Amino acid sequence: MKFAFGLKMDTSTIKMKKSPLIVLGMLCIAFFFNSCYYDSKEELFGTTACDTVDVTYATTILPILETSCLECHSEANAGVLGGSQILEGYDFLMDYVVAGDANASSFYNSVAWVSGYVEMPQGSDQLSDCKIAKIRAWINAGALNN
Ligand code: HEC
Repeated sequence: MKFAFGLKMDTSTIKMKKSPLIVLGMLCIAFFFNSCYYDSKEELFGTTACDTVDVTYATTILPILETSCLECHSEANAGVLGGSQILEGYDFLMDYVVAGDANASSFYNSVAWVSGYVEMPQGSDQLSDCKIAKIRAWINAGALNN
């Protein structure tokens, strides 16, 4: 009897312990499927797709230059690191841009790694396809100082 009683106590203790675990497990499963759902939603509806419409000099082009180019092509550094090519500031950048024609712009051709142009950013990986597409779109939309 004593043994049976002890067993009973044990089982009920186990049951008490199990239920929070089961709830936790179900929450984990719920979170798992939830994140899968959002992943596929991104793929389906293109949250990760490249927006080449909402592209401006200030919000798109300048940040790319600041991140990947100006360490060499700033006014201060270009002489030493950037082959004396200054890309800092809209007016200087336009020396490498034919407004409305990305294919004629060395700014575009150098980041797109078109043969015959020096591949930029020098010594680093190529910019993402999306950044290159945005540069192309900005130039072809008239390369506005916007
Ligand atoms: C590590 C330094 C460095 C970085 C970073 C760099 N460049 Fe250059 N860039 C150079 C040098 C050096 C030259 C001159 C190369 C030559 O004339 O052979 C040059 C030349 C250029 C030219 C002139 C190409 C031509 O054919 O006339 C353009 C345009 C250019 N870079 C754009 C960029 C852009 C855009 C970025 C950023 C995405 C970038 N560079 C990042 C060093 C750099």
